[in-house]
Amino acid sequence: MIRGSLGVTALLSVPFVVASWSPDRARSASAAELLLELDGQGRLGGSMAGRLRRESRVEVAPLEAGGGTIFNVADDAFVAEDFLELPTSAFTVEGWVAVETPRRWGGILGAIEDNGAFEKGWLLGYDDSAFTFGISTASTDDGDGRLVYLRAASPYLVGRWHHVAATYDGSTSRLYVDGVLSAESTETQGPALMSDSARLTVGAYRDSDEFYPHDGRLADLRFYDRALDEPELQAAAAEGADRAGREPWTDALFEWTIPPYLTWPRTDGVSVLAETRLPGLARLYVRMDDERAWVEFEPATPTPSTIHEFVVRGLEPDTKYFYRMSATEAIGGRQETTVDSETRSFRTAPDRDDRAFTFTVVGDTQSQGDVAKRVSDLAFEHRPNFVVHCGDLVDTGSTHADWTDTFFPSMRPLIEHAPLVPVLGNHEQDARLYYDLMSLPEPERWYSLRYGHAEFFLLDGNRSLADQSEQLEWLKGALADSEATWRFAVLHQPPYTSDSDDYGDTTETGSTRGDLNVQNILGLLEAHGVDLCFSGHVHDYERTFPIKDGKVTSYADGGVIYVTAAGGGGHLEDFDATNTWFGHKKMRRHHFVHVAIHGDQLELQAMDEDGRLFDVLALTQRGR
Ligand SMILES: [Fe+2]
Ligand SMILES: [Fe+2]
Repeated sequence: MIRGSLGVTALLSVPFVVASWSPDRARSASAAELLLELDGQGRLGGSMAGRLRRESRVEVAPLEAGGGTIFNVADDAFVAEDFLELPTSAFTVEGWVAVETPRRWGGILGAIEDNGAFEKGWLLGYDDSAFTFGISTASTDDGDGRLVYLRAASPYLVGRWHHVAATYDGSTSRLYVDGVLSAESTETQGPALMSDSARLTVGAYRDSDEFYPHDGRLADLRFYDRALDEPELQAAAAEGADRAGREPWTDALFEWTIPPYLTWPRTDGVSVLAETRLPGLARLYVRMDDERAWVEFEPATPTPSTIHEFVVRGLEPDTKYFYRMSATEAIGGRQETTVDSETRSFRTAPDRDDRAFTFTVVGDTQSQGDVAKRVSDLAFEHRPNFVVHCGDLVDTGSTHADWTDTFFPSMRPLIEHAPLVPVLGNHEQDARLYYDLMSLPEPERWYSLRYGHAEFFLLDGNRSLADQSEQLEWLKGALADSEATWRFAVLHQPPYTSDSDDYGDTTETGSTRGDLNVQNILGLLEAHGVDLCFSGHVHDYERTFPIKDGKVTSYADGGVIYVTAAGGGGHLEDFDATNTWFGHKKMRRHHFVHVAIHGDQLELQAMDEDGRLFDVLALTQRGR
């Protein structure tokens, strides 16, 4: 039956091929209604099949595991070669899904665009624990589209087959799991709102700026141009009952994707995090330098997960500790695998003001992992107590591989021994992965951190710092409450920079000489006697003269010194050919900064990626 009212066949105007190769699969739907079919052997059929491409060879799981097309990496997704006109007033996506790696944004089949407030299209997918169906319709349109998400009432089991279906009949959106209606919404009314930039994709959450490939299997996935009803979907689920009964299966190994590393140094402990490829349960063991017994710590969330976070408390201040982590696979039915990390060490923060300590400042490690590794290895030679990162840790915050394959490998062994103290750069995209992979004081996007007699005020330069903004109000309070001798601000965007083109093209016109949003904090830094302000973002090194009231003012008279340390690995930028009124020292090389503090003495050294010293600064605290 071809529904004239929908006119789908006319829109697609390509021959239907499904009936010619698997007529038995069309079931209750006629060939004309079945637009796309991915069978258990990885073959694509249906009228749209010819327009979807997969770069990699199709691999199929063993029959005893229930078969199915294997998806592991980005190349495994089937992506439409160009924009496809899809049915918008009624459709069904239905099929068998096994998720091997839970993700915040998992995609099975859809064509979606979610960029800030712009939200169009629809997607059958999943999140960390449950199947989801997102759809943007006329009734929810807030001007640039708004997605409504249905979320299954119960979680999926990792590695196990589930029958999943999403239907839309023009007024009600429904999500079925294993043949049972699990969520529905009548908020959705009228045609689905599509974006012509969204390409139909099987096996990934994909839009213009995000691509999260499915890790798992798909089989007998079908897409129709009408809403199937519950009996039809129950029948579809019953048809694959054999598949549903199988033990969980995965082709992935249980291993560290990110071995343990440190964040958030404190007098009474530190945070230790790690990631495994598959969900597991981890244990952390910590022992003091001169004791034998390991003390076991519980994870922050004691349920199986891929990211393992431990907020260790109860340790002695200014003391060296050893730590190691052990994680055991937690997928039912499989032989359990355990991985053990190497033993590493750290020192807790001092609780007394007279202790001496050092720290590294680095920024914009970003895309060139080999450069970042050279820089971080040199920083590690100095054995800093901790590492301040000025943001742009990665090139694309929402891309998992940027963290696992570039950032973390390049920062080892440094952050296995020296806890990371980061701020968000613009390249982190405010992605959830940043928050998942960092363990920091709430609300994490900004926080203060006391270390010895120094306090750091770590800000999110991507968010408003305007008068009355939540963040500026917080900063006001935190600075007013501070009792620290040394005070440092850290934020990604520089309040002052002599950069050539980030804030105006200095070869032809003027420049604001810094980020206008973050310049809102200048008065506060000056009023509360902040000594140094560290930034990233413009990929070079710069140290300004001390500045107060928009003029060069001696440090002793309250001038704040601004240091841009953005040479951790990103491609280098350049300076205005003419010096600025505040420009003291500049260097266009990859680099890091080493700061040492004892009592009222501070020494700062900047070194390039070959270890050559190119800037030094010595301060005697001006007194409070
Ligand atoms: Fe940046
Ligand atoms: Fe950057």
